[in-house]
Amino acid sequence: MYSDLVMDHFQNPRNLGEIPEDPSVGVGQVGNPVCGDIMKMWIKVQDNRIEDIKFKTLGCGAAIATSSMVTEMVKGKTLEEAMAITNAAVAEALGGLPPVKMHCSNLAADAVHKAIENYQEKQK
Ligand code: FES
Repeated sequence: MYSDLVMDHFQNPRNLGEIPEDPSVGVGQVGNPVCGDIMKMWIKVQDNRIEDIKFKTLGCGAAIATSSMVTEMVKGKTLEEAMAITNAAVAEALGGLPPVKMHCSNLAADAVHKAIENYQEKQK
């Protein structure tokens, strides 16, 4: 039912953990209204680029796999490039998700976008 890539990211999540908060770190948290699962992302920004990113997800396997995948997709990217990544692009990068699990892909890019907004807010 899941692609090999989803299973790999679920079983060996990349960039799991958190980053200690300081002015160069943005934090974003989103909840899935469908199931109540929660995803939290920390980004460390240097020279307008995401230098480091970590996540903690309290959720299903698909939510963990999409979290892990999005961290790999945005690491090293500029804030603008990371903002342009969509939830659908994350699901696609994982080889798709089963139709009943598509709602699980509604968190990953949103959590990154919120972390970027939080970082930008801190710079004001
Ligand atoms: Fe909640 Fe997958 S069941 S995100």
